[in-house]
Amino acid sequence: MTSSDNKHLGAGAVTTGWGVGLPPTIVTNADLEARLDTSDEWITERTGIKQRHIGGTTAELAIMAGKEALESAGLLPEDIDILLLATTTPDERVPGTSATVQNALGITGGAFDLNAACSGFVYSLVVAHGLIGIGAKRILLIGSETLSSITNMDERTLAVVIGDGAAGIVLEATEGPGELLSWDLGADGSLKHLLYCDHGGYLFMDGKEVFRRAVRIIVNSAQNALNKVGIRSEDIDLFVPHQANARIVEAARERLGISPEKAMVTIDRYGNTSSSSIPLALVAAIQEGKLKKGDIVLLSGFGAGMTWGSALLRFGG
Ligand code: UT7
Repeated sequence: MTSSDNKHLGAGAVTTGWGVGLPPTIVTNADLEARLDTSDEWITERTGIKQRHIGGTTAELAIMAGKEALESAGLLPEDIDILLLATTTPDERVPGTSATVQNALGITGGAFDLNAACSGFVYSLVVAHGLIGIGAKRILLIGSETLSSITNMDERTLAVVIGDGAAGIVLEATEGPGELLSWDLGADGSLKHLLYCDHGGYLFMDGKEVFRRAVRIIVNSAQNALNKVGIRSEDIDLFVPHQANARIVEAARERLGISPEKAMVTIDRYGNTSSSSIPLALVAAIQEGKLKKGDIVLLSGFGAGMTWGSALLRFGG
């Protein structure tokens, strides 16, 4: 089965719980202005960011999000068959950060990390639906990142755009077809030099070049997912893109022909949180009443690799 063939082989799954994990420290643009050669005006205009949460470890934030998601689904840790942790900032090289999170939460099922950079949550969501298709019943899926741990916070370019945080969902097998309508995953490793972090080093990003490609990549991927099931962009109730830059979100939304009120924007409060950005925006949409059962929601991400991914859902099945 490839990205171009979305026929479901097994059982479907629906989202039954959600939660977030954010470090308590909020860093505003004014805080950055005080110690870097930058300004609230520049950050706001160029990125749409007003503040970000900074701190914690990837495991700590994931544990917070996981606990809240289990509670909201009304499940116990032992009900979970698989813990899937999307992260590009694992706390250790070995083992996966999912091992720490599994142990802290008391999950008895399998646990693994998935790194597809900022597309990690969409990749994980598709993998989770696949696992349910072959017999898993309940999956806890979390995006968790501490980008501040790999960013030179004294260097303005990236220090102003990144944020830390986690968010997760519980996916449960269902009798019906489930909520995943279609998906599109892709990668082009020849572009890995645009955004990378070597072991022990700091994150590097060719911001202009990534920006230039991002809109086209998101739009193509979203259109692939829509075309597979013949859903038109006008039929989308909510667009939840990776929150890398408000200008990228805006340009992609416009090119896709989605009206402004249907695009979820949370970059103003969280900054760019890589794998956590889509689930943080998704959970915010649920909690703010912007996403209801039966709504058509389009998740689209892109990031280092470069990777990209879209998932089209009928939320709640
Ligand atoms: O999540 C994974 C994917 N990531 C992305 O998609 C990010 C894509 N890239 C971006 O969002 C943008 O490229 C950035 C927000 C990172 C940078 O914005 P930009 O509009 O591309 O700025 P730039 O790097 O071209 O810099 C423009 C000017 C430069 O000054 P001069 O040469 O015009 O005098 C920079 O030195 O802005 C200056 N600058 C800053 N000024 C104040 C760069 N960073 C800052 C800053 N504060 N933090």
